[in-house]
Amino acid sequence: MCLVTGSSGGLGRAFCRRLAEDGAVVAAAGRNLERLLPLIDELPPVAASSGAGELEGATHLPVQLDISDPASVEAGVRLVEERLGRVDVLVNNAAAYGDLTRAPFWELPLEEWDRVLATNLRGPLVMSRAVAAGMRERGSGHIVNITSATFWSGSANWAHYVASKGGLIGLTRVMAKELGPFGICVNAVAPGFTLTEASRDLMADAETYGVERGSLKRAQQPEDVVGLVAFLASDDSGFITGQTIIVDGGRQFN
Ligand SMILES: NC(=O)c1ccc[n+]([C@@H]2O[C@H](COP(=O)([O-])OP(=O)(O)OC[C@H]3O[C@@H](n4cnc5c(N)ncnc54)[C@H](OP(=O)(O)O)[C@@H]3O)[C@@H](O)[C@H]2O)c1
Repeated sequence: MCLVTGSSGGLGRAFCRRLAEDGAVVAAAGRNLERLLPLIDELPPVAASSGAGELEGATHLPVQLDISDPASVEAGVRLVEERLGRVDVLVNNAAAYGDLTRAPFWELPLEEWDRVLATNLRGPLVMSRAVAAGMRERGSGHIVNITSATFWSGSANWAHYVASKGGLIGLTRVMAKELGPFGICVNAVAPGFTLTEASRDLMADAETYGVERGSLKRAQQPEDVVGLVAFLASDDSGFITGQTIIVDGGRQFN
């Protein structure tokens, strides 16, 4: 059973589709339930072989939660565990991204810094704490944190965003160390500039942005990222933990 935050966004939708195609029961989370319903309708139905076992007739679940609000996270994760039994995989994908104030660090309003850090860094921490209790009890689980290749490029005017995603890489390593003894893997995926509604709104030249600097010379689509997330969500990656892997068509090297 996979819980994906930010499921109403371009990357989150693609992750949910792929995980459901691979046979998972998906809990798709976001702040706005209305934005999640079309996705739930289009996901392939839960197969009898999905391992839902004790949850005969389980269906994919839309979940309203705000990752910047710990009480909302607690309530959302409790609902998922009640309805779907457990969380085997958490994909921490939600982030403040498309609506950021852009400014040099010396002009960035501190309220905006706090909002972005509370969402992009504290949010995955709070989400992970909420699912970790069950994972520790069962002695298994996968957490996949979606960070960003901007940590390597250090994009100007994005101090809050880049710092939050760099912090998430550090948090991934600590969580891997602390959850490893319980058989839980924690890894991060760092996409490069990927064509979603949010990123298209950010850049007038989104379709060609950064393409020349990449090795593969084409624009990145959400579907380019799903294979790695599916792998890190599966037991095939069961001896990989604490790692951050860049998916950007060979623009940055780690
Ligand atoms: N697109 C790119 O080029 C790119 C590159 C590198 C990394 N990333 C990362 O990939 C992830 C997804 O990006 P995207 O392009 O798909 O962005 P997006 O469309 O803006 O998706 C972000 C999602 O997060 C949710 N969200 C935002 N704040 C939230 C909060 N406080 N609580 C719960 N949910 C919240 C939004 O849903 P609601 O508004 O409905 O709640 C939305 O579904 C983000 O972590 C982003 O930083 C993106």
